[in-house]
Amino acid sequence: MRAYRAAHEQSISDPDGFWGAAAKAVTWTKEPTRVLDADRPPFYRWFPDGELNTCHNALDRHVAAGHGDRTALIHDSPVTGTRQRYTYAELLDRTARFAGVLRSLGVGRGDRVVLYLPMVPQAVIAMLACARLGAVHSVVFGGFAPRELAVRIDDAKPKVVVSASCGIEGKRVLPYKPMLGEALRLADHAPDHCVIVQRPQERADLTARDLDWDEAMAAAAPADCVPVAATDPLYILYTSGTTGRPKGVVRDNGGHAVALTWSMANVFGIGPGDVWWTASDVGWVVGHSYIVYAPLLTGATTVLYEGKPVGTPDAGAFWRVIAEHRVKALFTAPTALRAVRKEDPEAALLADHDTGSLRTLFMAGERLDPGTYHWASRVLDVPVIDNWWQTETGWPIAANLRGLDPMPVKPGSPTVPVPGYDLRVLNENGEPCGPGQDGAVALKLPLPPGSLPTLWNDDERYVSSYLSRFPGHYATGDGGYVDEDGYVFIMGRTDDVINVAGHRLSSGAMEAVLAGHPAVSECAVIGVADALKGQVPRALVVLKAGVTDDHAQVAAELVRSVRREIGAVAALKEAVIVPALPKTRSGKILRRSMRALADGVDEPVPATVEDPAVLEALRPVLRPERQD
Ligand code: COA
Ligand code: AMP
Repeated sequence: MRAYRAAHEQSISDPDGFWGAAAKAVTWTKEPTRVLDADRPPFYRWFPDGELNTCHNALDRHVAAGHGDRTALIHDSPVTGTRQRYTYAELLDRTARFAGVLRSLGVGRGDRVVLYLPMVPQAVIAMLACARLGAVHSVVFGGFAPRELAVRIDDAKPKVVVSASCGIEGKRVLPYKPMLGEALRLADHAPDHCVIVQRPQERADLTARDLDWDEAMAAAAPADCVPVAATDPLYILYTSGTTGRPKGVVRDNGGHAVALTWSMANVFGIGPGDVWWTASDVGWVVGHSYIVYAPLLTGATTVLYEGKPVGTPDAGAFWRVIAEHRVKALFTAPTALRAVRKEDPEAALLADHDTGSLRTLFMAGERLDPGTYHWASRVLDVPVIDNWWQTETGWPIAANLRGLDPMPVKPGSPTVPVPGYDLRVLNENGEPCGPGQDGAVALKLPLPPGSLPTLWNDDERYVSSYLSRFPGHYATGDGGYVDEDGYVFIMGRTDDVINVAGHRLSSGAMEAVLAGHPAVSECAVIGVADALKGQVPRALVVLKAGVTDDHAQVAAELVRSVRREIGAVAALKEAVIVPALPKTRSGKILRRSMRALADGVDEPVPATVEDPAVLEALRPVLRPERQD
């Protein structure tokens, strides 16, 4: 632990020295003379007078250094039966041309571009093309419904939207274009143009506002990199908060490039030329950081996988991809492995593939439960390494630093705070908790480079959401503890954010949809433990007095409405009609107590409960399997 301790200590006591040295790995058009700008707490900026271009760092400089023939991107798509490789030179050529397309549509530095795309190479190309122009991309996950897309379009106000004719989910072809059309009808803001990737599985009808990706590319002149300030935004990524309105997490250019480059070498132990595969989606932060930016900034080869862990075609899909592309490290969510394990408990399908290239399995997105940890360790016989972080930070807060100083694994712990993060566990009064004592996990300011500097157009919400609970600290929203060896344990969210199959969702957003139904008087959505997805949402609904509609019918309508308004990814399968919801005397719904009851966790009911019998009456609904 010596190298780790020294690095962590320096990163906190001498952030200028630590991050100034890390910044040398990035190519600047204007070298920063300052590292941390702490003039305006609680707002901090990294490399305030530096200038660079993130796309140049991800592509051009590798080509200029003579690595143009190295594979940058492998698109492996079992759902279309295709595989495609792009060298760094080819990816640069496509990106520069798509930047030319965007420029011809009037996109320049600071303009926003919304991307609503499946896992196709064009998603990576479009992200990098925005970075090339100094434009700000905002990728919206394909599993979100038109209304969610519309909310993001209205907040980001893009000049251009880039989308595709369809996505392919397992064996189903999902048309994207009608969803985009519906979102644009719902949105107040209208982009000037849409660029549509036409896929052979289902072509879309284009309107006057639309351009065909291939035709636009054929006619485009390549665009050069536009240097931007290190503090300029690179992207906005919307994430679920506790209310229905998503938060636009902003990522800057300079801190992001420095932090991700540092993380690839020191956290993940990956260098130039290594084959790296993150099985996530470009719509999530894991995809932004570790499918696209970090591996390319490093000069590694990244695999973009358009498929599922199971069903495309079977539970051996991951092993096939590792073997076929000689993947050195795989990064995925525990839920994906739980899906594989469910179908192939002994991993018999591993025998069909030579996975000898695999050195490490990295896991994040949700808690790595010890069962999945032990199973994966046994069947793959490689270190299984958890890491904990969130959209806001953009890269791991707690990890086992495989490149810097590998440490013994403790199942259930993502290991130690990563250099740059001054992690504290605080009690309700903001006082430090002792070893092993549960509390709120907070990060003492400043956050390291790469973490969010603010929320899009909303400094106030940034402060009220994250910085006001514990002054001088960023509240992560997660609860947990640090043990006597300094290992961090993350036990779950302390707010109303739920985590379904590694997807972060807001129970408040689902409640807002349910409350909009004319028959609903009040409702609560809680995340309950699920063996496959980690958590699934469950809705409890009280109907208005006098509603005589068939309960089953209302419940089915409510489930449909969440799918329609938020998207299939919300995975709300059941709404239960109940006579009353448990509350405090001041009228606050006791979600935490309901969750504890559903999960079978012993937790004292708050003394302020209005009527304990109401909670007790929900036991058969929340925990039906315990009834006899
Ligand atoms: N576009 C459109 N729809 C999508 C989608 C996308 N990109 N991603 C998911 N959906 C849909 C699914 O088709 C499914 O629809 P259905 O209710 O009609 O079946 C629904 O959203 C829920 O999807 P999901 O949560 O993925 O569940 P699943 O049952 O289809 O698959 C797993 C379960 C475990 C196999 C899957 O969740 C998985 O691969 N998880 C990996 C986790 C991950 O990548 N997390 C990212 C953070 S690291
Ligand atoms: P997201 O912003 O979508 O990446 O979700 C972040 C949230 O997912 C965190 O606040 C945690 O609640 C949870 N999470 C992510 N990774 C882990 C992990 N390794 N262990 C426990 N929880 C995790």
